[in-house]
Amino acid sequence: MNEFSKKEIIDILNDESQNEWLFALADKIRKENVGDEVHLRGLIEFSNICKCQCKYCGLRSPNKNLDRYRILPDEIILYAKKAVDMGYKTIVLQSGEDEFYTKDTMCNIINKIKEMDVALTLSIGEKSYEEYKAFKDVGADRYLIRIETTDKNLYKKMHPNMDFDNRLRCLKDLKKLGYEVGTGCLVGLPEQTVESLADDILFFKEINADMVGIGPFISHPDTPLKDAKNGNFTLALKVMALTRILLKNINIPATTAMETLNPNGRIIALQSGANVVMPNVTSTEYRAKYEIYPNKICINENPSQCRGCIEGKIKSIGRSISKDYGFRKK
Ligand code: 5AD
Ligand code: FES
Repeated sequence: MNEFSKKEIIDILNDESQNEWLFALADKIRKENVGDEVHLRGLIEFSNICKCQCKYCGLRSPNKNLDRYRILPDEIILYAKKAVDMGYKTIVLQSGEDEFYTKDTMCNIINKIKEMDVALTLSIGEKSYEEYKAFKDVGADRYLIRIETTDKNLYKKMHPNMDFDNRLRCLKDLKKLGYEVGTGCLVGLPEQTVESLADDILFFKEINADMVGIGPFISHPDTPLKDAKNGNFTLALKVMALTRILLKNINIPATTAMETLNPNGRIIALQSGANVVMPNVTSTEYRAKYEIYPNKICINENPSQCRGCIEGKIKSIGRSISKDYGFRKK
């Protein structure tokens, strides 16, 4: 019963009377397959400089209203060290597509962080096979690159100067190199259909993603989509729950975008299939500037406040914080 067809997925997404059952089933499958532990990943958003022009994203290069920053390698390594000292077992390095960080620069950073007894995830965009290989060779464990949408026409509209097939090539290269691979989609992009969301979910299954991050689209005032309507929290949650039901043992984050639309969004997500949270571990000065979308949470907090906050919330629902690296359960 957990092998849904495309038609069944579409019917579930369209039928609001199914929601409670769906979230409960996803929660049960999460518990049976990955248990009650929540994996915390320490997120370092190290540069908001980006050469891309994704229509929905506040970091897009044409946005002149954003105060741009780059955290230099030594400081990135320092944030990683502090996060490891706080108990994080995974560090995630995320940035815009910023060519300042060359292959060698990234390899140096990865090398230093991997001396710290921690798993390392990269989320730095589309690179060549050679670059992905170099990062893997120095110890990177995982890579996040969302497909964003599998609807090729919509993908083209949303990503000027980008190529859907190159995105697929990246995912394929990363799998081949032995990374744990994360992908995901936005829910509620203008003109996105429920049919295409069903295709997104089946795509995650087809490529056997190890991690899937799903969040609602949130309209940013300094982008071409400033007048578009926000995505729907519940629909994003349903896409996430269906992903859990189909992919069982993968890692699924309760995304920050979910909490931006609902003050209890991450906890609701953790009770509807998610088993990962990615708290920010950089200092407060950078947080507001990594403005992918407006009203991001945690922009006035520091790393220890976020750690304390999320630990308290997780424990309040009877779940625990994992002490291991949190690779995909076999
Ligand atoms: N609303 C929600 N999510 C967004 N992202 C980018 N812009 C937005 C937005 N306006 C997501 C993309 C990207 C991830 C880092 O942030 O899916 O992969
Ligand atoms: Fe940052 Fe709650 S996780 S304030």
